[in-house]
Amino acid sequence: MSISQIPFSDIGNRLAGPSGIQELMDDCGQALTLYPDMRMLGGGQPAAIPEVQAIWRQRMSELLADGAALDKTLLNYDPPGGNPLFREAMAGFLKRECGWDVTRENIAVMPSSQSACFLLFNLLAGDSPTGKRRILFPLLPEYIGYANQALCSDQFRAVLPKIEERGEHEIKYHVDFDQLKITPDIAAMCVSCPTNPTGNVLTPEEFSRLRDLARENGIPLMIDNAYGHPFPGVIHGDFRPDWEPGMIFSISLSKLGLPGVRTSVIIADPAIVKALSNMNAIVSLANGNVGQALLTPLLADGRLIKLGSDVIRPFYKERSDFAKGVLSHALGDQMEWALHAQEGAFFLWLWLKKLPIPAAELYRRLKARKVLVIPGHYFAYGLDQEWKHPHECLRLTYSQPQSIVQEGLEILAEEARKAFG
Ligand SMILES: Cc1ncc(COP(=O)(O)O)c(C=O)c1O
Repeated sequence: MSISQIPFSDIGNRLAGPSGIQELMDDCGQALTLYPDMRMLGGGQPAAIPEVQAIWRQRMSELLADGAALDKTLLNYDPPGGNPLFREAMAGFLKRECGWDVTRENIAVMPSSQSACFLLFNLLAGDSPTGKRRILFPLLPEYIGYANQALCSDQFRAVLPKIEERGEHEIKYHVDFDQLKITPDIAAMCVSCPTNPTGNVLTPEEFSRLRDLARENGIPLMIDNAYGHPFPGVIHGDFRPDWEPGMIFSISLSKLGLPGVRTSVIIADPAIVKALSNMNAIVSLANGNVGQALLTPLLADGRLIKLGSDVIRPFYKERSDFAKGVLSHALGDQMEWALHAQEGAFFLWLWLKKLPIPAAELYRRLKARKVLVIPGHYFAYGLDQEWKHPHECLRLTYSQPQSIVQEGLEILAEEARKAFG
């Protein structure tokens, strides 16, 4: 038997097989390295924002200038839950800037929010002495990166949204509380806010109802703030979710322009923080230190909040308006289409109503024309019924330079027109 025929374990097969997130990351990584002529409207890559890049260059020079600090950063393994000084600084920042009642015992540093979610989903859910425990996603479509993170079969449940149609070309998804049932097998609920892929932000009422349901049932409500509060702050309305004991919040450095440092922060009760730290010791020993070293001085004041509100959020708002304008013009009125309301994050979520081919086929045709998008079906999982809607949807990123976004969206409109015949 050759090595290539060696059977994998069940968990091996689960993680090593093809998946939506792997296809997305391969496509995007290759587009950004090997195929620079590919128009990358695919990944969750943050944009190159000059003011933000200047801050990280400056911080890097400061770190290089202080030899002793640099040596310490590069040489030392931190404890698996993160550098105690960074955890202290982060707790101080959250207390001061967000008003959350946290100490460093509520903070776990993790090697990315992707891996933090993987650990959390499998810490809280899966086979247990009381039977199967499940993660409930109360609002589909939801982040593609969660879809393959369960180590057991049937570990995820999800609820279809109510679709509000606002005029001819805009929709908004809402939590369908009539369908949302917290059965005894539900271990936690999880929502990304703003949502990747749609840019949806929970309304304050939806957040409060989910919080109350979680409280009543004694389960954590997980909010993944990768694009939102408190940084990078790409939420266009006024609502900001507040952490409270019993909740689990995830915050990432990636969309602050630092995906390369692979660092995130989980805010949770001390027992969850301890469990995550222990798991991190087994899987990764420790976290990378460079992201924590770069960020620490910025936690001493309100600079990061201001960076979000004055630079990052307006940047993406302008990009979003631009992309929406180009796409609306290119699609015109020859077919029925709608975009999700732009409430945050970096994406347009396009619904091509009654699209005669699956979105996956449109993705393939677009890739052949050097335009990368993500077909909508990858954002629907945890269902025990067919759901046609996401097969008529695409997620489009507008963080790349405007000329690329414009070309990509115009080619997309051309291919969509061809598909409608
Ligand atoms: C909603 C959401 N959560 C988590 C992640 C993962 O982020 P990180 O770079 O911290 O692993 C992403 C990445 O795009 C995301 O969109």
